[in-house]
Amino acid sequence: MKDITLGLVGVGRIGVMHANNIAALNGVLHPQGINVRLRLTDVAAEHTRAVAAGLGAEFLPSVEALLGSAIDGLVIATGTGTHPELIRAGVDVGIPVFCEKPVALNVAESLPVLDYIRANKGTVQIGHQRRFDAGYLEAKRAYEGGELGWIHSLRAVTCDMMPPPVEFLATSGGLFRDCSVHDFDILRWLTGREIVEVYAKGSNKGDPAIGGVGDVDTALAVVTFDDGTLGSVGASRYNGAGHDVRLEIQGSAGSLMVGLDEKAALASAEPGVGFPSGASHRTFAERFDQAYRSEMAAFVELVLGQRDNPCTPEDAVAASRVADAAQESLETGLAVRVAAAVNI
Ligand SMILES: NC(=O)c1ccc[n+]([C@@H]2O[C@H](COP(=O)([O-])OP(=O)(O)OC[C@H]3O[C@@H](n4cnc5c(N)ncnc54)[C@H](O)[C@@H]3O)[C@@H](O)[C@H]2O)c1
Repeated sequence: MKDITLGLVGVGRIGVMHANNIAALNGVLHPQGINVRLRLTDVAAEHTRAVAAGLGAEFLPSVEALLGSAIDGLVIATGTGTHPELIRAGVDVGIPVFCEKPVALNVAESLPVLDYIRANKGTVQIGHQRRFDAGYLEAKRAYEGGELGWIHSLRAVTCDMMPPPVEFLATSGGLFRDCSVHDFDILRWLTGREIVEVYAKGSNKGDPAIGGVGDVDTALAVVTFDDGTLGSVGASRYNGAGHDVRLEIQGSAGSLMVGLDEKAALASAEPGVGFPSGASHRTFAERFDQAYRSEMAAFVELVLGQRDNPCTPEDAVAASRVADAAQESLETGLAVRVAAAVNI
């Protein structure tokens, strides 16, 4: 049996999920002769000790102790502001790093991290899990195969049922950088095209505290691709119908929607239509369960040297450029050319 050991820092909302998924990977990997061990650290020591105990993982008291414990790969799931420092620390140890999106709070803070990774020949996979989702993969296949003809519109939507804590929002970089960045990434990945202009609007009708930390609870960005194709990216923190993530692609020969299944978080207004009939997803963890599992399996393959990096830091920063432009448009009320966005 070949042992590999992953270290994970940040055992919060998403870190707990990644830890569970890593632990569950052994069910698949043991028959292949691979055993994955897991070590966890977080400043919230008591909570992390309990999570580690529940998973048969090891608790380490600090990032330094974790990095000094001969791990083969590092998973970073702390808040966004800490990503640059922790990515550098992982690269310094010479191991592959998985870091949750985004690379940093904005593009300006991301560029020195990219330079550092390149200068030190680091391998860093960024957590845009939708690239592993079955629906998005099928849409990419159909798009690339020309099955939809020429594309006239792409409409992306990402809505949470309830906002995360305001303390999280205060450090998240805003709705576009925290949430819509997934749609900006997937639009680039799926089309192989760049978004060159963004015009964004936002509103606050929910908890005034969200406006108090400079964010909006709902937003819409009109995007233009480099071939003139039009798209829109909508997001809200208050979607009572469920966690709603969809992408509609309309072309001259056909249309396709990602996320349109029995669990879609919407109802038809047409009489007699019972679709969708299932209970909607409640959280991103439910909606992308398969994608998060596949993403972590891909990171293990990256650690084992069995695959290329499925989401490079350059990819992630390209999506962040669009998010920065959207944020600038939101603040100025003007359409913003992505290449000319402030912060680049
Ligand atoms: N890919 C996705 O779908 C997705 C979804 C949610 C969050 N995220 C990203 O994941 C990151 C974490 O988000 P979250 O919602 O889990 O946040 P969270 O606040 O729930 O968890 C962060 C954890 O990191 C710990 N932490 C912070 N700084 C630390 C440090 N220096 N050393 C050790 N521990 C530290 C905190 O104690 C906390 O437990 C964010 O960057 C966010 O953008 C991605």
